[in-house]
Amino acid sequence: MRNIHAILEQMSLSEKLAQMTQLWGEFPDGSPLMGLHYDFHSNRQLAESAGSILGFSGAQRTMEVQREYLACSDKKIPLMFMTDVIHGYRTIFPSPLALSCSWSPELVEETAAVAAKEASVSGLHVTFSPMADLVRDSRWGRVIESTGEDPFLNSLYTAAFVRGYQGNDISESDRLACCVKHFVGYGAAEGGRDYNTTQISEYQLRNFYLPPFQSAVNAGCKMVMAGFNSLNGIPCTANQWLFQDILRNEWHYNGLVITDCTAVYELVPHGYSIDNTEAARSSIKAGMDIEMVSTTFYDAKEELIRDGSISMELIDQAVERILNLKEELGLFDNPYKNADPELEKKYHLCKEHREAARRAVSQSVVLLKNEQESLPLKTSERIALIGPYSDNNRLLDIWKCEGKEEECNTLLKGMRDGGIDVLVSPPCTNCNLTCQAEVPDSLNCEYEAAIATAGSCDKIVLALGEPPEWSGESGSRAYITLPDIQLRLLDELHKLNKPIITVIFSGRPLELEQAAQKSQALLQVWFPGTEGGNGITDVLLAKSLPQGRLTMSFPRTVGQLPLYYNTLPTGRPQQTPEGCERFRTGYIDTPNTPLYPFGYGLTYTTFQYSDITLSRHSLNMSDVIHASVTVINTGKYSGCETVQMYIRDIAGSYCRPVKMLKSFRKIDLQPQESALVSFTITSDDLAYEIPGKGLLTEPGEFHVFIGPDSSTQNMAAFILTVD
Ligand code: BGC
Repeated sequence: MRNIHAILEQMSLSEKLAQMTQLWGEFPDGSPLMGLHYDFHSNRQLAESAGSILGFSGAQRTMEVQREYLACSDKKIPLMFMTDVIHGYRTIFPSPLALSCSWSPELVEETAAVAAKEASVSGLHVTFSPMADLVRDSRWGRVIESTGEDPFLNSLYTAAFVRGYQGNDISESDRLACCVKHFVGYGAAEGGRDYNTTQISEYQLRNFYLPPFQSAVNAGCKMVMAGFNSLNGIPCTANQWLFQDILRNEWHYNGLVITDCTAVYELVPHGYSIDNTEAARSSIKAGMDIEMVSTTFYDAKEELIRDGSISMELIDQAVERILNLKEELGLFDNPYKNADPELEKKYHLCKEHREAARRAVSQSVVLLKNEQESLPLKTSERIALIGPYSDNNRLLDIWKCEGKEEECNTLLKGMRDGGIDVLVSPPCTNCNLTCQAEVPDSLNCEYEAAIATAGSCDKIVLALGEPPEWSGESGSRAYITLPDIQLRLLDELHKLNKPIITVIFSGRPLELEQAAQKSQALLQVWFPGTEGGNGITDVLLAKSLPQGRLTMSFPRTVGQLPLYYNTLPTGRPQQTPEGCERFRTGYIDTPNTPLYPFGYGLTYTTFQYSDITLSRHSLNMSDVIHASVTVINTGKYSGCETVQMYIRDIAGSYCRPVKMLKSFRKIDLQPQESALVSFTITSDDLAYEIPGKGLLTEPGEFHVFIGPDSSTQNMAAFILTVD
């Protein structure tokens, strides 16, 4: 065990502040090696002593930089390399929102472990994942990086990501340390505009936004990143209440905290700090250990501590945490850790990883509609494949790391390799229907070609969507429709009276009402990653049965946003789910309900639920209740059903949500097979966070709902009494 204190004692203030600085790893022209350059600042001394590097990887390159860096450093403190490995490094898995639709933390853990293995052999030490932001507004482009709108599910996923990346010991060769982000509330950006301010009450924060972070912390996550947003008037980067009171004091977190990119510098435009030095002071006081990309800590130097508001002790604590992570990663003993060009060749895109990615696709896609048994396809059918995503390899969202579009298999390739007789319409491959950010007003290619192709086939697979740049960071949209030109193509094809199976590639829930009306089947495939074409084909052919369930509600129209199932009731609820009654919460021109609710998803068979049986109708604080249903597979295919259990607290000191997901079970049933599914409810499941009082269970009436999605009305009531 290295004596971190002894190292710390020998360090100058300048060396300490350099450790607290993370620089961008490449010059704009792409040259690495001490190319630690930043637009606002270029300083060779800092470049030679900065504690960590962002966005720079590759076994050979990181080893060279590390060697050169250590040669200049008299203290021999190794560099840490960090980047955003979000859903794979070279083998790219479906985007996080897609993965979350598997309702499988096990799958998420497996994908994170593969990502860590591929990234660690390329010299990386830390990934800026998982993103734990709860999301309710699909105008915000970063919903694709999230795991959806539910705190319970999000918490399972953040813990699964942490386990997958870090394993039991981050010094092991195939592991990365990970960083949960963005603490906190970033997903509630007003109007869905990226980087926008957020206003979230403590009640909402504690019951919805904080739990996924706490779950990551409890799972042992090594780093936390502050959000760009201001929260109730104070930017997260300078928010002492968040980082000192909640994270450190309440949760006993002793890992590292990093700012988001240039966020300290941004305290000035936020209108919070008068200049960079004050911004640096506020951030360090709030608990920021590492400043990402801007260099206000380092630039302030002695100025930082001159007025006494920042003590050397505070700086030492931050540096100690940084050095401790380097020690825990094993970098003092082996600064190259797992970087190895030979292992890169062995692991990147290896057969095993590609197979895992393919399985992940088939578990992530969500079947939204399937009439007249349009799906599954049969290889004996002749299929017309039309639309901008037919033979398009843009299947990675904007966090693609080292993933390459040319290494993705397209839907056309997947379908042909799957033995489907596909006729592809010429405009799909090389015309203006190709997904581009610039969508033309007029359809330059002819509809005729598509229609001629469709006319000679049994079914149409129409691959529509938005291009990757339309979501992700800074990818907010005010209109969440499919490009008009694509809807016009759908209109034309609809006139042919052939079954249309529309496959939607997107980085968010889009408005799909029109697509749903004019298609017999609708399959949401998000950005499916390297194995997209194969994984989707597996589902189209029923080689893998669809099983994905939505983790974000799909709105009918953008005007319904923010939209989420676990909303608080109002004094004037709508009486019927589809109602638009006057003097009730809602709109006069559209229902409140989503087009597709949270938890929703079909498969090729159907399931029937019995009423709920309760083992008792009242319980006290130490009792348990078993709530059970019988589920029968009533269709012709075997299938996986995700049985979901929600609870409503009928009255409390705070208004309680109309439903909260508390548990779920995935069951496989053969045709006509049935299963008894039983959930155990304890008083812990009925507790919620009351600001100032903590986690409490209040006695009274509760409703339990068990069904296939969050709109279920299959309900039973029980009473919680005090002991
Ligand atoms: C994003 C973070 C990301 C960081 C480093 C920022 O712009 O908000 O999520 O981790 O860049 O790439």
